[in-house]
Amino acid sequence: MSKTFFIETWGCQMNDLDSQRLSGGLKLRGYRRVEDEREASLILLNTCSVREKAEQKVFSRLGELRELKREVGELQIGVCGCLAQQEGERILQRAPWVDFVMGPGNVGYLDEILNGEHRIALQFPDDRRYDYLAVDRGSATKAWVTIIEGCNKNCTFCIVPTTRGREVSRPLDDVLAEVRAAVASGRVEIELLGQTVNAYRCPISGRDFGALLSAVAEIEGVARLRFMTSHPAEVNDSMIAAMRDHSNISRYLHLPVQSGSSRVLRRMKRLYTREKYLETIRRIQEAIPEIHFSTDIIVGFPGETEEDFLETLSLVEQVRYGSLFAFKYSPRPGTPALKIGAAVEDAVATERLTRLFDLHERIKRERLESYRGRVVPVLYEGPSRHDPAMLSGRTDDNWMVNFHGDPATPLGSMLGVRIDQAQHHTLRGEAVA
Ligand code: 5AD
Repeated sequence: MSKTFFIETWGCQMNDLDSQRLSGGLKLRGYRRVEDEREASLILLNTCSVREKAEQKVFSRLGELRELKREVGELQIGVCGCLAQQEGERILQRAPWVDFVMGPGNVGYLDEILNGEHRIALQFPDDRRYDYLAVDRGSATKAWVTIIEGCNKNCTFCIVPTTRGREVSRPLDDVLAEVRAAVASGRVEIELLGQTVNAYRCPISGRDFGALLSAVAEIEGVARLRFMTSHPAEVNDSMIAAMRDHSNISRYLHLPVQSGSSRVLRRMKRLYTREKYLETIRRIQEAIPEIHFSTDIIVGFPGETEEDFLETLSLVEQVRYGSLFAFKYSPRPGTPALKIGAAVEDAVATERLTRLFDLHERIKRERLESYRGRVVPVLYEGPSRHDPAMLSGRTDDNWMVNFHGDPATPLGSMLGVRIDQAQHHTLRGEAVA
């Protein structure tokens, strides 16, 4: 029987990249990727466990796959990613039709797993076997590059330190080699990844994130450099200077604040106060006035009062984030927040979430409208998904733009686009000569 695989991915970019690595690794081993799960001899679910909802989805998918396995017989099912790490053996107990469970530390250990040597692989081996030439990049213009894995922060709500392990930075030269290889294959946009990307420290030279940013930005052919996710307490002058001094580093910074109340931030163990966060924002704005911030916010953290929440609203108003991702607090197994107390009543949290989104809608609208009539550089990524007659790309500060232009334009070109319309989340315009 021919070896074919189907892979489904939930969660963050780190997981997306792990799926690209798994896919590349399987192709090297003679597997062919299929888009219809019924044609697969191997199905991988690459899972997320950051909130409970993500977890429930996986178990309902596993229920469906049980039926499929009954019908087709020869089918291997593997659960990968953060839920695999969190639940381990319990997944096999709850869903015994699963063949193996492997955590994020084992992406490089496919052979051992496919051989059936390990049905449960949850360790974080010292040698993470990162084969960057075998990544099945999802885009012709863009490459994700991991620079640091794991997280040493102990935010009380967060499961990530359990599921992704302690921080390990990759040697700087290794990162540069991967970026050069990606650029040589046409990926002119590089996005550096890490759970706390700006905590990076080269294990050999000790060079910090700012030094790495500069070194990557200076590689010939890197048209745009992005990174995700920064921790506010790890922002330093070297990082800000690197951003200021390299015009190919995106004018976009995702800086999760989680709450605008210092009282809540302390209970979350975020390692900064409201004032300190706003001071960091100010320093960055001073160096890079055109910066576009985005953020993550949790509403309904245990003990969050109406006053705390109003502080979150006022902070959002003050920073005027272009993008905002907000979630109701979701209790995660084994996290310290469980001992802090119960989540805020669901109806209250839902109502707060709505108010937050309403406020942000208005801010986002004003920001998007401010682009009307301007000509902005756009990195061309391919045909628009909504209207294949249009082209699509992103601005330097990370807004998606759909525009009229020459379809023969080579992918990865930087174009000037005149913006004539602001849509819900995106901009529309026309390429100019
Ligand atoms: N409940 C709700 N949201 C959470 N996040 C992380 N853990 C939880 C949780 N237990 C959110 C944070 C983080 C984003 C990726 O997910 O806002 O920045």
